[in-house]
Amino acid sequence: MSRRTAILTDAVLNRLRDSARRAAGHSYSPYSGFAVGAAVLAASGTVYSGCNVENASFGLTQCAERAALTAAIADGAAAGSLQVLLIYTPGDTVHPPCGACRQVMHELMAADGTVVSCCDSAELKTWSGSEYLPDPFLPEALPAK
Ligand code: THU
Repeated sequence: MSRRTAILTDAVLNRLRDSARRAAGHSYSPYSGFAVGAAVLAASGTVYSGCNVENASFGLTQCAERAALTAAIADGAAAGSLQVLLIYTPGDTVHPPCGACRQVMHELMAADGTVVSCCDSAELKTWSGSEYLPDPFLPEALPAK
């Protein structure tokens, strides 16, 4: 069993799901009505959560995934160390994360990290890094300082 599979126990998934659902309950989404929650498991074992926060200036909306990742970084988790990110969306169908969040996940998640999407049914979908973002924009593309 790979380390990636080993970490995705039912206990870990339930913990992340509870946290993401709780965060979705705090979603500020008056424009879309789509309350999203996310929870990230750090290498320390700590779980960080986030929800989507919308704005009347629509482009300023922050997705739940980026809110959870930002909370982990703000608490001192190292970029590139985050193990599992779980997304919860309401309804009976799982939804994949948006493209912008995938680029941010690529930079902050562990290379062998996993992204999981869940909903109100038993359906789950998981992605490895190369599955959720096969051809990322890399910092190496930036000119040397
Ligand atoms: N949203 C997320 O929070 N995560 C995603 O991956 C996709 C979309 C939010 C943004 C917006 O508040 C609402 O869902 C509708 O797009």
